[in-house]
Parts: sequence; C-alpha cells; structure tokens
Amino acid sequence: MTLESRPENMPRIDSLERAQAYIDERLALLRAQIGGRKVLLALSGGVDSSVVAALLIRAVGDQLTCVHVNHGLLRKGEPEQVVRVFREELGANLIYVDASDRFLDKLAGVADPERKRKIIGKEFIEVFAEEARKLDGISFLGQGTIWPDILESEAGIKAHHNAGGLPEDLRFELVEPVRILFKDEVRMVGRALGLPESMVERQPFPGPGLGVRCPGAITRDRLEAVRESDAILREEFAAAGLAGKVWQYFTVVPDFKSTGIRDGRRTFEWPVIIRAINTTDAMSATVEELPFALMQKLVSRITAEVKGVNRVLYDCTPKPTGTIEYE
Ligand code: XMP
Repeated sequence: MTLESRPENMPRIDSLERAQAYIDERLALLRAQIGGRKVLLALSGGVDSSVVAALLIRAVGDQLTCVHVNHGLLRKGEPEQVVRVFREELGANLIYVDASDRFLDKLAGVADPERKRKIIGKEFIEVFAEEARKLDGISFLGQGTIWPDILESEAGIKAHHNAGGLPEDLRFELVEPVRILFKDEVRMVGRALGLPESMVERQPFPGPGLGVRCPGAITRDRLEAVRESDAILREEFAAAGLAGKVWQYFTVVPDFKSTGIRDGRRTFEWPVIIRAINTTDAMSATVEELPFALMQKLVSRITAEVKGVNRVLYDCTPKPTGTIEYE
C-alpha cells in the first residue's frame, strides 16, 4: 500500500468549516479502510493522538480500543482528563494502565539522560505490547503521525519513532488519519470534533514527560515537586492570559539544595527553575519577558505550596546556548 502524501495544492485547514469538510471526508475513508475490523491506539492525551482517537470513535465506535499508559511522568490532572474526556464523554473503549511504579522502579538511580529516555521508551512499548496481546482480533494500529513528522524523517532530521519499536507480532496495518495535516490544522480538526480547548491547545510535551525536568536520578519526592510547581505555573499563566500565547513553559527541579529560612528556622531545600520560551520550530528559542508581578506571584505560591522548595529561579537563556529542556 502506498502511503498518503499531502496534495500540493491542498488548502490550509484554517476554519471550522474546512475542518468539518476534512472530517466528513476522513470518516468515509476510515470506514472504507477499516470495515468491520478492529483498531488499537496508544492514546497519550497529546493533541495528535487525541484527535486521531476522536476521529476513530466517530468513524468506527467500539471497534476502536484506546490504551492510555500512565508512566508516572505525566502532568498533574492529565491521566484523569484523558479518562474523563474519552471514556466518560466520548464513550470510548479505553484501557487505562497505571504503570507509574513500574517505570519509577526501573528509573531508580539512573542519572544519565539518554539512558533515562531509553528506559522510558522501552518500558512504554512493553506495557503497550502486553495490553495489545490481551486483545483478540486487532487488524489496525492507529497513529498520530502528522505531516511535519514525514517531512522531518525524509530530511533525516528526526527518526520517526511512532510505534517503530513494536514487536513483530504486533505490526498491524497503520491508520493515520491526520498524516497529511500540519499541527495547526490538527488543532482545528480537534476543535471541530468538540475536544476541550485545554486538550486542543496543549503545549508540546516530551515523550519522557516530567522525567527530563527532574534532572539526574529521579526520586518520587523531587518528581512531585516538579509536578506541583508545573501545575501552579500553568494555573498562573492561564490566569495572566499567557496560556496559548507562550509556546512552551514548564518547571524544572534540579538535584541540589540551598539554604533558606522559613518561620525563623533554617531550611535546606531545592530550587524550582521556571522556563518559558517562544519558538516557531523548536530549533532555536527566545525567552518570554514575564511581568515582574507574575514572577513574584509564582515565587510566593511555589515556595508556599510545593513541598521541599525554598527558592524560585527564572531561566533567561535562549536556545542556543540552552536547549529548551534540561536533559
Ligand atoms: P530541546 O530540549 O532539544 O527541545 O531544545 C526541543 C523540543 O523537543 C521537545 N523534546 C522532546 N520531545 N521526546 C519528545 O517527544 C523527547 O525526548 C524530547 N526532548 C525534547 C522539547 O519539549 C521541545 O519542545
């Protein structure tokens, strides 16, 4: 089967009307491709896999099974949102696997960034494969491949990794209903499908999740500090009208402590580093100029609400020389 390419003269999907026309056309194509057979999808909760899930639910209903693997490195509230939106609101056949302990046990004591990434990637495939093997009669694997993934892998910039590592007995035929779309078009299609704005406008989030924002060997308490401070940052950015305007923003909790003071007593705790950057292609990035009042609000909330933290720092480093993530 030849894989679909984006037609050269395809108009940009820049309105809900165009998105609806795309959806109608796709639903017919998906029904023709899939017929009465079954589809499996790894649903991360990211924009691409969420839009693919929503399209497939409309096209083939319960012939689709979604698997959401919680690797313990997701942001606060994310697994709950995936379950609420897909199982409860859209009625999807959703298997939710909380594999947090399994991932965190494997990662214990591992400080090297590339080894951490490899462990997370390999474990993810193992958990997904275990779930897939419990199911009978799957013919297709849904994937959230988008057009820039194809362009980048053709240009040799990025090895396109989606599902690449699945074992041989699980190499199903692919269903890639957003393959010819750019990211902004995927978002528009998601909106037209009625997905919540917080899901459609989600900022990029690395596959290894909060694991790369807890530099060095991950411990559960420091990871919790990353998750809680990230949740506060997202809340305050939303309140300040910056959500959806700043390209990517997050917190990092490095593995060192400094002296502080709380209630007249000496403390020895971690700092939280805030990073907020703008970019078009993630190859280079500039730093967002945050209002000082917002910084002060963040400092007071994070130091009051996040356990084990006594300082807050703002990273003013563009890319280059700093990468966006810390690992
Ligand atoms: P860097 O840190 O290389 O990040 O400047 C560029 C963009 O890529 C994201 N990123 C990742 N995404 N797996 C992913 O899926 C990864 O291992 C990974 N590392 C970085 C990062 O969040 C930023 O948007």
